[in-house]
Formats: sequence, structure tokens, C-alpha cells
Amino acid sequence: MKFFVDTANVASIREAYSWGIVDGVTTNPTLVAKEGRDFKETILEICNIVNGPVSAEVVSLDTEGMVKEALEISDWHPNIVIKIPMTKDGMAAVRRLTKEGIKTNVTLVFSASQALIAAKAGATYISVFVGRLDDAGHNGLDVVFDTVQMIDNYDFDSEVIVASVRHPLHVVKSAQMGAHIATVPFPVLDSMFKHPMTDIGIERFLKDWEKVPK
Ligand code: E4P
Repeated sequence: MKFFVDTANVASIREAYSWGIVDGVTTNPTLVAKEGRDFKETILEICNIVNGPVSAEVVSLDTEGMVKEALEISDWHPNIVIKIPMTKDGMAAVRRLTKEGIKTNVTLVFSASQALIAAKAGATYISVFVGRLDDAGHNGLDVVFDTVQMIDNYDFDSEVIVASVRHPLHVVKSAQMGAHIATVPFPVLDSMFKHPMTDIGIERFLKDWEKVPK
């Protein structure tokens, strides 16, 4: 399973990347706005830190506008993946961009039928928003399970991204289901390293090491 970090915060990305387990980055308009910085400058700085796919989202709602934005943004750096919302216009844009060799990440996917459409359109990545589904009283992981199964059944090229991750169990359960990627917010990724018994164990080993004659 690949890990992407779900943030536009350059300091967090730099730190997470230094851990050696980050394969890419996803951003969205909300995450970029939070940083209060220029969009292009932020994305380019991220591309210079991480050697892997970096998702940047278009904001147009019509196919022509999305394709125009996508062509411009994808020109900034070879690692950029264009994030496109799950709409009819969006899927028409995905089809055209795929033909042009531009990688896409279909975002705001909340059902297996939407995921199937995105795969048919030729999406490189399909982002299933598990946390927001859970928030709305559904089981987001059910959609991940169904999507992975459909992709496998028909050998679609798309990779499933588990997005809107809220806790480590979302990542672990998705890994068991065979999801290709989890895009994880920095605090959740950080917490995946931790277990109190590891800290206690290290403390005990160090204490005992002091008793070894030197
Ligand atoms: C996906 O790529 C999105 O950036 C993200 O996972 C959205 O998650 P949220 O529900 O935490 O906003």
C-alpha cells in the first residue's frame, strides 16, 4: 500500500517525507486555502520535496474549463496529478486528459457506482471519502471494499485512494481490503507510529543497558 500525505503544509510534508514512508501528496482547495499562500508556489514547493505524485485540484465546473486548468497546472511539474470532481463534466474531462497522457485523481467519490464511472472514464486514481461518509452515518469502508473488488474484477487501471481518513483503523482496514493508496492527514500518519508499550519497552531497554559493564 502506498501512503500519500493529505495536506498542503510544506513543513508537515517535509517532516513526513523524512520518515521514509511517504509516496505522494494530495491537496484540495480547502487545504491550500488554509496555508494562505499562492497555489502554484505551494504546489511547486511540494513537488520539490516529494518524489511522487502530487494532486492539485481544478476549480472549474465545466469540461472545457477543467481541461484548460488541467493543461496549465500539469505543465508546472511532471509529478502533478490533476484532481477532478466526480461529475459528468468532470468525467468527460478525465477521458480527454487521460488521452493526452495527463494523470487524474477523481475526487469526492461517495458511492461504488461513482467509483465505477470514474474507472470507466479512465481515472488514474479514485478517491473514496471514507471519513465524510462515516460522518453522514454510512460505512465509508464498505465503498472501499466494493470499489477494490470492481477494479480487480475488470482489471481497471485505476488505483483506489482511501481519502478523508480520520484514524489509523481506516488505513489498516483499507489495507486489508487491498486499497492501493491511503492519503493520510499528518496527525493520523504521526499517530500510526505510536504505541505506549513501545515507549515503555525502549525505556526499559535503556535502563537495563546502563547495568551492562562498560
Ligand atoms: C482527498 O484527497 C481530500 O483531500 C481529503 O481526504 C478530504 O478529506 P476531509 O474529509 O478530511 O476534508
